[in-house]
Amino acid sequence: MSIAVSLEYENDLITNGDKLFMEEHLKDAHDALIRKTGPGADFLGWADLPESYDIDEVSRIKKAAEKIKRDSDAFIVIGIGGSYLGAKAVIDAIKSPNYNLLDKDTPDIFFAGNGFDPRETLEIIKLIENRDFSINVISKSGTTTEPAIAFRIFRDILEKKYGRDEAKNRIYVTTDRRSGALRKMSDSAGFETFSIPCDIGGRYSVLTAVGLLPMCVAGIDIDALIRGAAEEREELISAKGTDLNSAWKYASARNILYKKGFDKEILCTYNMSMRYFGEWWKQLFGESEGKGHKGIFPASCVFTADLHSMGQYIQDGQRDIIETTVNFNTSKYDFAVPAREGDEDSLAYLSGKTLSYINEKVMRAAIGAHVEGGVPNIVITAPACDEKNIGALIYFFEFSCGLSGYVLGVNPFDQPGVEKYKNNMFELLGKPGYQKK
Ligand code: PA5
Repeated sequence: MSIAVSLEYENDLITNGDKLFMEEHLKDAHDALIRKTGPGADFLGWADLPESYDIDEVSRIKKAAEKIKRDSDAFIVIGIGGSYLGAKAVIDAIKSPNYNLLDKDTPDIFFAGNGFDPRETLEIIKLIENRDFSINVISKSGTTTEPAIAFRIFRDILEKKYGRDEAKNRIYVTTDRRSGALRKMSDSAGFETFSIPCDIGGRYSVLTAVGLLPMCVAGIDIDALIRGAAEEREELISAKGTDLNSAWKYASARNILYKKGFDKEILCTYNMSMRYFGEWWKQLFGESEGKGHKGIFPASCVFTADLHSMGQYIQDGQRDIIETTVNFNTSKYDFAVPAREGDEDSLAYLSGKTLSYINEKVMRAAIGAHVEGGVPNIVITAPACDEKNIGALIYFFEFSCGLSGYVLGVNPFDQPGVEKYKNNMFELLGKPGYQKK
């Protein structure tokens, strides 16, 4: 099994009775996911995606990525929420959070359209000023205001730089297969388009062209990523039982703990490169479970940095936190503490020890301290931070989220709550049809 889950908690916080009770609910949730009979079943396309991927689309993605790499030094990826976080998370995790600073033969990638910050927009404009660039605009609905405005801005710059005809060859659109403003615009302008299947919602779309095109441009092996997800899927859909299925184990622990008042969960990583994976995970669980005044509030931390800021609260604050630690073997990147004569910095005891060895010990120390302080820990271990294992981890969390949402009694595949602020925003911005009567 690629992704392993273990639990650490004080005394009898989770009893055998709790587990047996939850197992019954998980059985129903599992069947509803597999048979597509639960709430939101029209949005379960992600569940089979790694097995049923459109081969032609994947080869078009690879071809487009090759062209982008040939004719661009910079690649602007425009999207927000589910149309942004997955690609950013995977590129950071597998390549580096400093991807643009690496010595590489792939274009720099700039993420735009995930807010209205004028300073950030100006900075990207400045950074691409004298460079060849292409654009990938990603929006399932094709009407989201942030990416729509960013696309207008960067399309304008592209057309002024290359003229309309050449600009057209540098625009790649990822949107709904059939509907939406962006689909209409692309069809009439003749942009190359990639499809987001109708039955896959934004936060479950990272393994579609939404994530795969930017990843492929960054030099990520998308076949290995999909294979990792497919292997994980095979295991998770076939094994029934909390001791046999790591997604059951995760969903069971968090729902048992939620019932006992643990209504916050922090996804903790000990690798800087996983910071955005935490952002992706927060959207996945927050948007899936936060409904009907229910749901665990998801947060994330990067340790050891955040042990020096959030550590006090976790150790000693209100006792309602679940800590979920994502643990990788990172020895591939190791570096040893140099030996030095004398011991003026009192570090002789660590001479020759590697950073991953130290990181692992700190992780053990923090988990031990937090468990002792009454913070239950769910430790999710993957063998390495590479394409295969990140693919597996993505599928593991998606499947766990579906299970967990059903056990909680919500539809994990809709997001009715995100519309309210949009109506207010359109009213304040004076969008026709939104004025107060
Ligand atoms: O998960 C979701 O549905 C959202 O986060 C969307 O991905 C986000 O709002 C962007 O929507 P769209 O792709 O339609 O522009």
